Amino acid sequence: MISGYVNLNHGSFGSTPRVVLEAQRAFTQQMEAMPDPWFRAGTDGYRQLVVEARQMMADYMNVTDPADLTIVENASSGVNAVFRSMKFNAGDKILITSTAYSMVKNLCHYLGERYGVITVTVQLVFPLTSNDDILRPVAAAIAEHGSSIKLASFSHIDSVPGFILPASELVRLCRASGIRTFIDGAHAIGQIPINIAEMDPDYYVTNAHKWLYTPRGCSPFYVRKEFQAEVSPTVVSSEWSSGQFLANFAYTGTRDYTPFVSLRAALQFRESMGGDAAIHAYLRNLSWFAGTHLAAKWGTATIVPQFMIGAMIDVELPVVDMAEGEALRHAIFEEYNMYFITHQLQGRVFTRLSAQIYLEQADFVLFGERVLETLARLRAAKK
Ligand SMILES: Cc1ncc(COP(=O)(O)O)c(C=O)c1O
Repeated sequence: MISGYVNLNHGSFGSTPRVVLEAQRAFTQQMEAMPDPWFRAGTDGYRQLVVEARQMMADYMNVTDPADLTIVENASSGVNAVFRSMKFNAGDKILITSTAYSMVKNLCHYLGERYGVITVTVQLVFPLTSNDDILRPVAAAIAEHGSSIKLASFSHIDSVPGFILPASELVRLCRASGIRTFIDGAHAIGQIPINIAEMDPDYYVTNAHKWLYTPRGCSPFYVRKEFQAEVSPTVVSSEWSSGQFLANFAYTGTRDYTPFVSLRAALQFRESMGGDAAIHAYLRNLSWFAGTHLAAKWGTATIVPQFMIGAMIDVELPVVDMAEGEALRHAIFEEYNMYFITHQLQGRVFTRLSAQIYLEQADFVLFGERVLETLARLRAAKK
């Protein structure tokens, strides 16, 4: 990242450390030096390296059998692969929460148009005070819609607003009613520990390019063994063959697979920064500090309890409406090279802030002051 740029929004696109980019560059050179041996099956190229990367990630995410884990280019690919591989009949339902990522909502809409799939959206009401505020309305929706729900999809960590959901409990709740569960862990890996064997979802995808520090385009993707034969990548490649889960995902056409094989470098970088536990704790503590400090400074509020916070936190902005929030965002980026995002929830305007190891408390303290100063200036200029 360029010196002087203060990124308070790591969550949207991540940012790759220099040493990891150097490792990726070495793989790119290998690919360019001898393209055929890099790409073709049965060689020592990227495919063998991906097998090793999958094994490493199976250990990291506690997936019992590495054959149940592949890698896709992003969470959208994993979610699309599952949703678009399933055979839906008109009237079948997919259960999501009101906080699901827009891609998931769009995909449900698409399946509605194509196959008559109905989306059941569980409304979450903020502030949340306990996991029951999530589990209770989900249980009520399951009781109401029953066996017409073919699939439920929940984020492990929602992004807007940013908070941790009780994924294991949600999986258990759905399984008790015979409903398959997709856990969209786009934000989870690198932010919180993931234990697939314990959570036991039917499908799980996570973006290593957000919080684990790989280059963009690297998302470990788990599918329960019994459903693997029916899950195809969204791209049916020249090597595709019916029911071949691992082989079909191993090659999805000519593209850049170097982010997949940079996973080792990302894990090594994490070790060099003190390891996972230290990084998780640093992010958790810094985001909680940011949220509580700013809410107190601005006279506003955060919206979830501390145990639901990983590296992201939402704080209400001291603005009158979204237009003022956007004007503030533009001004702070233009004048101070600080980037943050705004969003609206229940008629109020929030910023979702991301902690990261390149930030410290002083960055958020300064941000808090600049918000108040800039707002005063914008309002004075309007008079
Ligand atoms: C909760 C959630 N799911 C899925 C995605 C999609 O990730 P990608 O753009 O890498 O496919 C995002 C992206 O921010 C997200 O926040």
